[in-house]
Amino acid sequence: MFELEINILYSYIMEEKKRNEFGQIPDDHTKNDTYYLHQTPNDLARDLINLLPLKPGDTILEPFKGEGAFYDNFPADCHKDWCEITEGRDYKTHQGTADWVISNPPFRMEDSKGKRVNCFFQLLEYYSTRANKGIAFLGNDYCFSTLTPIRMKKLNELGWYLQGYTICNVKKWRGRYFFMVFTKEQTDIIKYLLGSY
Ligand SMILES: C[S@@+](CC[C@H](N)C(=O)[O-])C[C@H]1O[C@@H](n2cnc3c(N)ncnc32)[C@H](O)[C@@H]1O
Repeated sequence: MFELEINILYSYIMEEKKRNEFGQIPDDHTKNDTYYLHQTPNDLARDLINLLPLKPGDTILEPFKGEGAFYDNFPADCHKDWCEITEGRDYKTHQGTADWVISNPPFRMEDSKGKRVNCFFQLLEYYSTRANKGIAFLGNDYCFSTLTPIRMKKLNELGWYLQGYTICNVKKWRGRYFFMVFTKEQTDIIKYLLGSY
């Protein structure tokens, strides 16, 4: 427990040290301590993939491969592809579609004004037109909270439905993590209210 807190504090200090004069952390696309801290444990990725309805022959894209926790565990009878900025493949340059897009994506990315913002919903929207069957993203409670009622409605209008999520703990990370699975199968299993109370 103590070791976990030290790790989190160390990672926080290292992140803070990177802030520029505008208080922003420039994107550092190198394999530093922060990069390794954010890699998904291999056995968690394996267990999460086993919960997905993947079919032989499906094409799967891991757009943020990192060290390959998800990518390496994709079924052998599927066709797989990847991007990873530290290896020179930016997800934005990937061409074409995939049946499934599966990842623990980056938590924050620079927006059009260069500000680092939570990018979870932005990435969901991005892949809503590039995935044919499903999108499965692992994210923390901040990511989960970006799914506001208005955004859930927007996803539904784009033809995507949250089918459910798997809750998990990761010792080296803070709080709870949610593996959220979106497909085009219409469902209202996850409900939302658009009013403000
Ligand atoms: C939270 S880590 C997770 C890595 C991996 N998906 C996993 O589950 O272990 C996010 C990864 O996204 C990569 N990344 C960040 N920006 C990227 C971009 N524009 N294109 C591709 N990869 C990017 C980072 O280098 C990092 O490896």
